[in-house]
Amino acid sequence: MDKIRIQGGTPLNGEIEISGAKNAALPLMTAAILTDQPLILHKVPDLRDVASLCEVLGQLGVTSAYDAKSKTIKLHAPAISSCVAPYELVRKMRASILVLGPLVARHGEAKVSLPGGCAIGTRPVDLHIDGLKQLGAEIELIEGYIHATAKQGLKGAHIHFPKVSVGATENVMMAATLAKGTTTLANAAREPEITDLGECLIKMGAEIEGLGTDTITIHGKPFLRGTEHTVIADRIEAGTFVIAGAMTGGKLTLKHCNLQHIDYLLDPLHKAGVDITGDGGNITVQRASARLRGVDIMTEPYPGFPTDLQAQMMSMLTIAEGAGMVTETIFENRFMHVPELVRMGADITVHGSSALVRGVAKLKGADVMATDLRASVSLVLAGLVAEGATTVHRIYHLERGYENIVGKLSTVGAKLERLKDEAA
Ligand code: EPZ
Repeated sequence: MDKIRIQGGTPLNGEIEISGAKNAALPLMTAAILTDQPLILHKVPDLRDVASLCEVLGQLGVTSAYDAKSKTIKLHAPAISSCVAPYELVRKMRASILVLGPLVARHGEAKVSLPGGCAIGTRPVDLHIDGLKQLGAEIELIEGYIHATAKQGLKGAHIHFPKVSVGATENVMMAATLAKGTTTLANAAREPEITDLGECLIKMGAEIEGLGTDTITIHGKPFLRGTEHTVIADRIEAGTFVIAGAMTGGKLTLKHCNLQHIDYLLDPLHKAGVDITGDGGNITVQRASARLRGVDIMTEPYPGFPTDLQAQMMSMLTIAEGAGMVTETIFENRFMHVPELVRMGADITVHGSSALVRGVAKLKGADVMATDLRASVSLVLAGLVAEGATTVHRIYHLERGYENIVGKLSTVGAKLERLKDEAA
Protein backbone atom coordinates (compact mmCIF):
# COMPACT_ATOMS: atom_id res chain seq x y z
CA MET A 1 0.00 0.00 0.00
CA ASP A 2 1.23 3.52 -0.73
CA LYS A 3 1.29 6.80 1.16
CA ILE A 4 1.38 10.51 0.43
CA ARG A 5 3.81 12.84 2.20
CA ILE A 6 2.74 16.50 2.33
CA GLN A 7 4.82 19.53 3.35
CA GLY A 8 2.27 22.03 4.68
CA GLY A 9 2.11 25.82 4.46
CA THR A 10 1.97 26.63 0.75
CA PRO A 11 -1.03 28.58 -0.62
CA LEU A 12 -2.57 26.99 -3.73
CA ASN A 13 -2.62 29.23 -6.80
CA GLY A 14 -3.58 28.42 -10.36
CA GLU A 15 -6.03 26.23 -12.29
CA ILE A 16 -7.26 22.66 -11.78
CA GLU A 17 -9.27 20.71 -14.38
CA ILE A 18 -12.22 18.96 -12.71
CA SER A 19 -12.77 15.33 -13.79
CA GLY A 20 -16.03 13.61 -14.68
CA ALA A 21 -18.09 12.61 -11.65
CA LYS A 22 -17.38 9.15 -10.20
CA ASN A 23 -20.93 8.96 -8.81
CA ALA A 24 -22.41 9.70 -12.22
CA ALA A 25 -20.03 7.50 -14.25
CA LEU A 26 -20.73 4.36 -12.19
CA PRO A 27 -24.54 4.27 -12.68
CA LEU A 28 -24.12 5.40 -16.30
CA MET A 29 -21.86 2.39 -16.92
CA THR A 30 -24.51 -0.02 -15.57
CA ALA A 31 -27.05 1.51 -18.00
CA ALA A 32 -25.15 -0.33 -20.78
CA ILE A 33 -26.88 -3.51 -19.58
CA LEU A 34 -30.26 -2.07 -20.66
CA THR A 35 -29.48 -2.24 -24.40
CA ASP A 36 -27.86 -4.62 -26.91
CA GLN A 37 -26.25 -1.65 -28.62
CA PRO A 38 -22.97 0.13 -27.70
CA LEU A 39 -22.97 2.87 -25.04
CA ILE A 40 -20.12 5.38 -25.30
CA LEU A 41 -19.36 7.58 -22.28
CA HIS A 42 -16.98 10.56 -22.32
CA LYS A 43 -15.21 12.23 -19.34
CA VAL A 44 -15.13 8.95 -17.39
CA PRO A 45 -12.52 9.45 -14.64
CA ASP A 46 -9.54 7.06 -14.49
CA LEU A 47 -10.35 5.56 -11.07
CA ARG A 48 -10.04 2.22 -9.31
CA ASP A 49 -13.85 2.12 -8.88
CA VAL A 50 -14.36 2.43 -12.66
CA ALA A 51 -11.96 -0.46 -13.25
CA SER A 52 -13.71 -2.55 -10.56
CA LEU A 53 -17.10 -1.97 -12.17
CA CYS A 54 -15.71 -2.98 -15.59
CA GLU A 55 -14.74 -6.30 -13.99
CA VAL A 56 -18.26 -6.84 -12.65
CA LEU A 57 -19.82 -5.88 -15.99
CA GLY A 58 -17.41 -8.24 -17.76
CA GLN A 59 -18.79 -11.11 -15.68
CA LEU A 60 -22.23 -10.39 -17.13
CA GLY A 61 -21.09 -10.30 -20.76
CA VAL A 62 -20.66 -6.53 -21.05
CA THR A 63 -17.47 -5.71 -22.96
CA SER A 64 -15.68 -2.51 -21.93
CA ALA A 65 -12.85 -0.61 -23.59
CA TYR A 66 -11.53 2.36 -21.61
CA ASP A 67 -9.07 4.88 -23.03
CA ALA A 68 -7.44 6.66 -20.07
CA LYS A 69 -6.08 9.38 -22.38
CA SER A 70 -9.39 10.48 -23.90
CA LYS A 71 -11.36 9.41 -20.76
CA THR A 72 -13.79 7.60 -23.08
CA ILE A 73 -15.25 4.17 -22.42
CA LYS A 74 -17.15 2.01 -24.90
CA LEU A 75 -19.49 -0.51 -23.28
CA HIS A 76 -21.44 -3.16 -25.18
CA ALA A 77 -23.82 -5.87 -23.95
CA PRO A 78 -24.98 -7.66 -27.14
CA ALA A 79 -26.22 -10.49 -24.91
CA ILE A 80 -26.17 -11.22 -21.16
CA SER A 81 -23.94 -14.29 -20.71
CA SER A 82 -24.34 -14.59 -16.93
CA CYS A 83 -26.69 -13.02 -14.40
CA VAL A 84 -24.31 -13.45 -11.46
CA ALA A 85 -22.42 -10.53 -9.89
CA PRO A 86 -20.11 -12.41 -7.51
CA TYR A 87 -19.28 -11.51 -3.88
CA GLU A 88 -15.53 -11.25 -4.47
CA LEU A 89 -16.13 -8.47 -6.97
CA VAL A 90 -19.16 -6.73 -5.42
CA ARG A 91 -17.47 -6.45 -1.99
CA LYS A 92 -14.63 -4.47 -3.65
CA MET A 93 -17.03 -1.83 -4.90
CA ARG A 94 -20.50 -1.53 -3.33
CA ALA A 95 -21.91 0.50 -6.22
CA SER A 96 -21.92 -2.81 -8.14
CA ILE A 97 -25.41 -3.18 -6.64
CA LEU A 98 -26.47 -0.84 -9.46
CA VAL A 99 -26.32 -3.76 -11.94
CA LEU A 100 -29.33 -5.32 -10.18
CA GLY A 101 -32.13 -3.21 -11.66
CA PRO A 102 -30.81 -3.14 -15.25
CA LEU A 103 -30.10 -6.90 -15.14
CA VAL A 104 -33.60 -7.87 -13.99
CA ALA A 105 -35.14 -5.49 -16.54
CA ARG A 106 -33.04 -6.68 -19.52
CA HIS A 107 -32.50 -10.33 -18.67
CA GLY A 108 -35.39 -11.24 -16.34
CA GLU A 109 -33.02 -12.66 -13.72
CA ALA A 110 -30.15 -11.45 -11.52
CA LYS A 111 -28.02 -12.93 -8.73
CA VAL A 112 -26.15 -10.05 -7.15
CA SER A 113 -24.14 -10.43 -3.97
CA LEU A 114 -25.33 -8.25 -1.09
CA PRO A 115 -22.65 -5.52 -1.03
CA GLY A 116 -22.26 -5.51 2.74
CA GLY A 117 -21.30 -2.52 4.76
CA CYS A 118 -18.23 -0.32 4.64
CA ALA A 119 -16.31 2.01 6.95
CA ILE A 120 -19.02 4.68 6.98
CA GLY A 121 -22.00 2.48 7.72
CA THR A 122 -23.99 -0.72 7.26
CA ARG A 123 -25.19 0.52 3.86
CA PRO A 124 -28.40 -1.57 3.57
CA VAL A 125 -30.05 -2.09 0.16
CA ASP A 126 -33.62 -2.74 1.37
CA LEU A 127 -34.95 0.26 -0.59
CA HIS A 128 -33.44 -1.12 -3.83
CA ILE A 129 -35.04 -4.53 -3.18
CA ASP A 130 -38.46 -3.16 -2.15
CA GLY A 131 -38.56 -0.90 -5.20
CA LEU A 132 -37.84 -3.77 -7.60
CA LYS A 133 -40.41 -5.97 -5.82
CA GLN A 134 -43.02 -3.26 -6.47
CA LEU A 135 -42.10 -3.47 -10.16
CA GLY A 136 -43.03 -7.15 -10.00
CA ALA A 137 -39.63 -8.80 -9.43
CA GLU A 138 -39.63 -11.91 -7.19
CA ILE A 139 -36.73 -11.47 -4.80
CA GLU A 140 -35.15 -13.95 -2.39
CA LEU A 141 -32.01 -13.57 -0.29
CA ILE A 142 -30.06 -16.83 -0.65
CA GLU A 143 -26.66 -17.27 1.01
CA GLY A 144 -25.75 -13.59 0.85
CA TYR A 145 -27.03 -13.11 -2.69
CA ILE A 146 -30.04 -11.16 -3.93
CA HIS A 147 -31.79 -13.53 -6.33
CA ALA A 148 -34.26 -11.53 -8.42
CA THR A 149 -36.48 -12.91 -11.20
CA ALA A 150 -39.06 -11.34 -13.50
CA LYS A 151 -39.67 -13.92 -16.19
CA GLN A 152 -42.78 -12.08 -17.42
CA GLY A 153 -40.93 -8.78 -17.39
CA LEU A 154 -41.42 -5.86 -15.01
CA LYS A 155 -44.63 -3.83 -14.63
CA GLY A 156 -44.85 -0.12 -13.94
CA ALA A 157 -45.92 0.90 -10.41
CA HIS A 158 -46.29 3.87 -8.07
CA ILE A 159 -43.35 3.65 -5.66
CA HIS A 160 -42.97 5.94 -2.63
CA PHE A 161 -39.48 5.65 -1.14
CA PRO A 162 -39.78 5.85 2.69
CA LYS A 163 -36.28 7.37 2.75
CA VAL A 164 -34.33 9.36 0.14
CA SER A 165 -31.76 7.06 -1.46
CA VAL A 166 -29.50 7.93 -4.40
CA GLY A 167 -28.71 4.32 -5.31
CA ALA A 168 -32.25 3.02 -4.92
CA THR A 169 -33.59 5.86 -7.08
CA GLU A 170 -31.00 5.02 -9.77
CA ASN A 171 -31.56 1.24 -9.64
CA VAL A 172 -35.36 1.45 -9.81
CA MET A 173 -35.37 4.26 -12.41
CA MET A 174 -33.17 2.16 -14.72
CA ALA A 175 -35.33 -0.95 -14.23
CA ALA A 176 -38.52 1.03 -14.88
CA THR A 177 -37.30 2.16 -18.33
CA LEU A 178 -38.01 -1.36 -19.66
CA ALA A 179 -41.09 -2.10 -17.53
CA LYS A 180 -44.56 -2.39 -19.11
CA GLY A 181 -46.51 0.75 -18.27
CA THR A 182 -45.72 3.81 -16.19
CA THR A 183 -43.73 4.07 -12.96
CA THR A 184 -43.72 7.04 -10.60
CA LEU A 185 -40.97 7.38 -8.00
CA ALA A 186 -42.09 9.58 -5.10
CA ASN A 187 -39.56 10.90 -2.54
CA ALA A 188 -36.89 10.24 -5.17
CA ALA A 189 -33.34 11.54 -4.66
CA ARG A 190 -32.55 14.72 -6.63
CA GLU A 191 -28.75 14.56 -6.96
CA PRO A 192 -27.30 15.95 -10.25
CA GLU A 193 -25.81 12.50 -10.90
CA ILE A 194 -29.35 11.08 -11.08
CA THR A 195 -30.38 13.80 -13.52
CA ASP A 196 -27.29 13.01 -15.61
CA LEU A 197 -28.23 9.30 -15.65
CA GLY A 198 -31.82 10.13 -16.59
CA GLU A 199 -30.70 12.39 -19.44
CA CYS A 200 -28.54 9.58 -20.82
CA LEU A 201 -31.44 7.12 -20.54
CA ILE A 202 -33.65 9.58 -22.48
CA LYS A 203 -30.99 9.68 -25.23
CA MET A 204 -31.24 5.85 -25.22
CA GLY A 205 -34.99 6.14 -25.92
CA ALA A 206 -36.39 6.13 -22.40
CA GLU A 207 -39.30 8.46 -21.57
CA ILE A 208 -38.66 10.15 -18.19
CA GLU A 209 -40.15 13.27 -16.58
CA GLY A 210 -39.38 15.08 -13.31
CA LEU A 211 -35.59 14.63 -13.25
CA GLY A 212 -34.12 16.79 -10.47
CA THR A 213 -37.39 16.82 -8.55
CA ASP A 214 -38.57 14.42 -5.84
CA THR A 215 -41.10 12.81 -8.21
CA ILE A 216 -39.78 11.04 -11.29
CA THR A 217 -42.13 9.45 -13.86
CA ILE A 218 -40.90 6.76 -16.27
CA HIS A 219 -43.00 5.46 -19.18
CA GLY A 220 -41.59 2.00 -19.95
CA LYS A 221 -40.35 1.03 -23.44
CA PRO A 222 -39.82 -2.39 -25.07
CA PHE A 223 -36.13 -1.70 -25.65
CA LEU A 224 -33.46 1.01 -25.45
CA ARG A 225 -30.81 1.90 -28.01
CA GLY A 226 -27.15 2.80 -27.64
CA THR A 227 -25.97 6.43 -27.43
CA GLU A 228 -23.02 8.67 -26.59
CA HIS A 229 -23.03 10.74 -23.40
CA THR A 230 -20.61 13.00 -21.53
CA VAL A 231 -20.44 12.54 -17.76
CA ILE A 232 -21.09 15.69 -15.70
CA ALA A 233 -18.23 17.29 -13.76
CA ASP A 234 -17.53 15.92 -10.29
CA ARG A 235 -19.13 18.39 -7.86
CA ILE A 236 -17.55 16.62 -4.88
CA GLU A 237 -14.07 16.90 -6.38
CA ALA A 238 -14.81 20.57 -7.19
CA GLY A 239 -16.09 21.18 -3.64
CA THR A 240 -13.02 19.47 -2.22
CA PHE A 241 -10.67 21.79 -4.12
CA VAL A 242 -12.78 24.85 -3.25
CA ILE A 243 -12.26 24.00 0.42
CA ALA A 244 -8.55 23.37 -0.23
CA GLY A 245 -8.28 26.87 -1.74
CA ALA A 246 -10.14 28.39 1.19
CA MET A 247 -7.86 26.64 3.69
CA THR A 248 -4.51 27.41 2.07
CA GLY A 249 -5.30 31.05 1.27
CA GLY A 250 -4.40 31.17 -2.40
CA LYS A 251 -6.50 31.90 -5.51
CA LEU A 252 -7.71 28.73 -7.22
CA THR A 253 -9.72 28.36 -10.41
CA LEU A 254 -11.49 25.07 -11.09
CA LYS A 255 -12.08 24.45 -14.78
CA HIS A 256 -15.22 23.02 -16.40
CA CYS A 257 -17.48 22.55 -13.40
CA ASN A 258 -20.92 23.81 -12.49
CA LEU A 259 -21.23 26.44 -9.73
CA GLN A 260 -24.92 25.59 -9.38
CA HIS A 261 -23.99 22.03 -8.36
CA ILE A 262 -22.06 23.34 -5.33
CA ASP A 263 -24.68 25.93 -4.39
CA TYR A 264 -24.80 24.46 -0.87
CA LEU A 265 -21.19 25.55 -0.29
CA LEU A 266 -21.76 29.22 -1.12
CA ASP A 267 -23.51 30.32 2.06
CA PRO A 268 -21.37 28.49 4.65
CA LEU A 269 -18.12 29.45 2.91
CA HIS A 270 -19.22 33.07 2.52
CA LYS A 271 -19.97 33.16 6.25
CA ALA A 272 -16.55 31.59 6.88
CA GLY A 273 -14.92 34.47 4.97
CA VAL A 274 -14.39 32.90 1.54
CA ASP A 275 -15.24 34.35 -1.87
CA ILE A 276 -16.50 31.93 -4.51
CA THR A 277 -17.35 33.17 -8.00
CA GLY A 278 -18.38 31.35 -11.13
CA ASP A 279 -18.10 32.31 -14.81
CA GLY A 280 -19.06 30.14 -17.75
CA GLY A 281 -18.21 26.79 -16.31
CA ASN A 282 -15.25 27.76 -14.10
CA ILE A 283 -15.24 28.39 -10.34
CA THR A 284 -12.76 30.71 -8.59
CA VAL A 285 -12.17 30.60 -4.85
CA GLN A 286 -10.20 33.05 -2.72
CA ARG A 287 -10.14 33.72 0.99
CA ALA A 288 -11.63 37.17 1.67
CA SER A 289 -10.27 37.60 5.19
CA ALA A 290 -6.99 36.92 7.00
CA ARG A 291 -8.51 34.09 9.02
CA LEU A 292 -11.48 31.81 8.33
CA ARG A 293 -14.44 31.90 10.70
CA GLY A 294 -16.19 28.84 12.18
CA VAL A 295 -19.64 27.92 10.77
CA ASP A 296 -22.20 25.19 11.41
CA ILE A 297 -23.07 22.59 8.76
CA MET A 298 -25.59 19.75 8.63
CA THR A 299 -25.53 17.12 5.87
CA GLU A 300 -28.76 16.49 3.94
CA PRO A 301 -29.84 14.94 0.62
CA TYR A 302 -29.32 17.21 -2.41
CA PRO A 303 -29.78 20.18 -2.67
CA GLY A 304 -28.67 20.23 0.97
CA PHE A 305 -25.06 20.10 2.13
CA PRO A 306 -23.63 16.78 0.85
CA THR A 307 -22.33 14.14 3.23
CA ASP A 308 -19.46 13.61 0.75
CA LEU A 309 -18.08 17.06 1.66
CA GLN A 310 -18.58 16.78 5.43
CA ALA A 311 -15.07 15.54 6.23
CA GLN A 312 -13.47 18.17 4.01
CA MET A 313 -15.48 20.96 5.67
CA MET A 314 -14.52 19.66 9.10
CA SER A 315 -10.90 19.87 8.07
CA MET A 316 -11.39 23.54 7.23
CA LEU A 317 -13.13 24.25 10.54
CA THR A 318 -10.17 22.88 12.53
CA ILE A 319 -8.18 26.05 11.67
CA ALA A 320 -11.07 28.56 11.57
CA GLU A 321 -11.52 31.21 14.27
CA GLY A 322 -14.22 30.24 16.78
CA ALA A 323 -16.22 27.03 16.68
CA GLY A 324 -18.36 25.15 14.19
CA MET A 325 -20.85 22.32 14.66
CA VAL A 326 -20.83 19.50 12.08
CA THR A 327 -23.92 17.29 12.05
CA GLU A 328 -23.97 14.12 9.90
CA THR A 329 -27.51 12.95 9.15
CA ILE A 330 -26.94 10.53 6.25
CA PHE A 331 -24.47 7.88 7.46
CA GLU A 332 -24.08 6.48 10.96
CA ASN A 333 -20.31 6.29 11.10
CA ARG A 334 -18.82 9.07 9.06
CA PHE A 335 -16.52 10.67 11.66
CA MET A 336 -13.54 8.32 11.10
CA HIS A 337 -11.42 11.33 10.16
CA VAL A 338 -11.90 12.89 13.63
CA PRO A 339 -9.28 10.89 15.59
CA GLU A 340 -6.79 11.41 12.78
CA LEU A 341 -7.38 15.17 12.69
CA VAL A 342 -7.04 15.23 16.50
CA ARG A 343 -3.61 13.59 16.09
CA MET A 344 -2.70 16.68 14.07
CA GLY A 345 -3.73 18.96 16.93
CA ALA A 346 -7.37 19.61 16.01
CA ASP A 347 -9.84 20.27 18.86
CA ILE A 348 -12.94 18.21 18.04
CA THR A 349 -15.55 16.75 20.40
CA VAL A 350 -18.03 14.21 19.03
CA HIS A 351 -21.51 13.86 20.56
CA GLY A 352 -23.46 11.18 18.61
CA SER A 353 -24.01 12.47 15.08
CA SER A 354 -22.59 15.92 15.84
CA ALA A 355 -19.01 17.08 16.19
CA LEU A 356 -18.06 20.40 17.79
CA VAL A 357 -14.91 21.77 16.13
CA ARG A 358 -13.03 24.50 18.01
CA GLY A 359 -10.55 26.26 15.72
CA VAL A 360 -6.85 26.15 16.57
CA ALA A 361 -4.15 28.49 15.29
CA LYS A 362 -2.16 25.73 13.60
CA LEU A 363 -2.30 22.01 12.90
CA LYS A 364 0.89 20.00 13.30
CA GLY A 365 2.02 17.49 10.66
CA ALA A 366 1.76 13.81 11.69
CA ASP A 367 1.46 10.27 10.40
CA VAL A 368 -2.27 9.59 9.81
CA MET A 369 -4.36 6.75 8.44
CA ALA A 370 -6.91 6.97 5.64
CA THR A 371 -10.08 4.96 6.39
CA ASP A 372 -12.61 5.85 3.70
CA LEU A 373 -12.59 7.89 0.53
CA ARG A 374 -13.67 11.30 1.83
CA ALA A 375 -11.96 10.96 5.23
CA SER A 376 -8.71 10.36 3.31
CA VAL A 377 -8.97 13.60 1.38
CA SER A 378 -9.82 15.56 4.54
CA LEU A 379 -6.44 14.43 5.91
CA VAL A 380 -4.69 15.61 2.73
CA LEU A 381 -6.36 19.02 3.13
CA ALA A 382 -5.22 19.17 6.76
CA GLY A 383 -1.70 18.26 5.64
CA LEU A 384 -1.70 21.15 3.14
CA VAL A 385 -2.00 23.69 5.99
CA ALA A 386 -0.25 21.85 8.86
CA GLU A 387 3.13 22.89 10.19
CA GLY A 388 5.77 20.39 8.99
CA ALA A 389 5.21 17.10 7.18
CA THR A 390 2.09 14.92 7.18
CA THR A 391 2.06 11.38 5.85
CA VAL A 392 -1.31 9.89 4.88
CA HIS A 393 -1.11 6.07 4.84
CA ARG A 394 -3.38 3.62 2.89
CA ILE A 395 -4.09 6.04 0.07
CA TYR A 396 -5.79 3.37 -2.04
CA HIS A 397 -8.95 4.71 -0.38
CA LEU A 398 -8.16 8.11 -1.88
CA GLU A 399 -7.47 6.82 -5.36
CA ARG A 400 -10.89 5.17 -5.56
CA GLY A 401 -12.47 8.59 -6.02
CA TYR A 402 -9.89 11.28 -6.85
CA GLU A 403 -8.24 11.15 -10.27
CA ASN A 404 -4.56 12.17 -10.20
CA ILE A 405 -4.95 14.19 -6.99
CA VAL A 406 -1.17 14.38 -6.37
CA GLY A 407 -0.64 15.71 -9.88
CA LYS A 408 -3.50 18.19 -9.68
CA LEU A 409 -2.45 19.61 -6.29
CA SER A 410 1.22 19.78 -7.32
CA THR A 411 0.40 21.91 -10.38
CA VAL A 412 -1.08 24.59 -8.12
CA GLY A 413 1.87 24.67 -5.72
CA ALA A 414 1.22 21.97 -3.14
CA LYS A 415 4.35 20.19 -1.90
CA LEU A 416 3.41 16.50 -1.85
CA GLU A 417 4.71 13.20 -3.13
CA ARG A 418 3.45 9.62 -3.40
CA LEU A 419 5.69 7.02 -1.73
CA LYS A 420 5.76 3.24 -1.30
CA ASP A 421 4.55 2.29 2.17
CA GLU A 422 6.46 -0.71 3.50
CA ALA A 423 4.98 -0.25 6.97
CA ALA A 424 1.27 -0.44 6.09
C1 EPZ B 1 -24.45 7.42 -2.94
O1 EPZ B 1 -24.39 6.28 -2.10
C2 EPZ B 1 -23.01 7.81 -3.22
N1 EPZ B 1 -22.32 6.72 -3.91
C3 EPZ B 1 -22.30 8.12 -1.90
O2 EPZ B 1 -20.99 8.55 -2.20
C4 EPZ B 1 -23.05 9.26 -1.21
O3 EPZ B 1 -22.44 9.53 0.04
C5 EPZ B 1 -24.51 8.86 -1.01
O4 EPZ B 1 -25.11 8.51 -2.28
C6 EPZ B 1 -25.33 9.98 -0.40
O5 EPZ B 1 -25.27 11.12 -1.22
C7 EPZ B 1 -22.50 6.58 -5.24
O6 EPZ B 1 -23.24 7.33 -5.86
C8 EPZ B 1 -21.76 5.47 -5.91
P1 EPZ B 1 -27.96 6.44 -0.37
P2 EPZ B 1 -25.74 5.43 -1.81
O7 EPZ B 1 -28.66 5.22 -0.85
O8 EPZ B 1 -26.58 5.42 -3.01
C9 EPZ B 1 -29.65 4.54 3.64
C10 EPZ B 1 -18.67 8.64 -2.00
O9 EPZ B 1 -17.92 8.99 -1.07
N2 EPZ B 1 -30.17 3.47 2.76
O10 EPZ B 1 -28.44 7.79 -0.80
O11 EPZ B 1 -25.34 4.15 -1.20
C11 EPZ B 1 -28.14 4.56 3.70
O12 EPZ B 1 -27.66 3.64 4.68
C12 EPZ B 1 -19.88 7.79 -1.70
O13 EPZ B 1 -18.51 8.95 -3.20
C13 EPZ B 1 -31.06 2.55 3.30
O14 EPZ B 1 -31.40 2.60 4.48
O15 EPZ B 1 -26.41 6.33 -0.69
C14 EPZ B 1 -27.84 5.98 4.07
O16 EPZ B 1 -28.03 6.13 5.48
C15 EPZ B 1 -19.99 7.43 -0.23
N3 EPZ B 1 -31.54 1.56 2.48
C16 EPZ B 1 -28.94 6.77 3.35
O17 EPZ B 1 -29.98 5.81 3.07
C17 EPZ B 1 -31.18 1.47 1.16
O18 EPZ B 1 -31.67 0.56 0.46
C18 EPZ B 1 -28.51 7.38 2.03
O19 EPZ B 1 -27.92 6.36 1.24
C19 EPZ B 1 -30.27 2.42 0.64
C20 EPZ B 1 -29.79 3.42 1.44
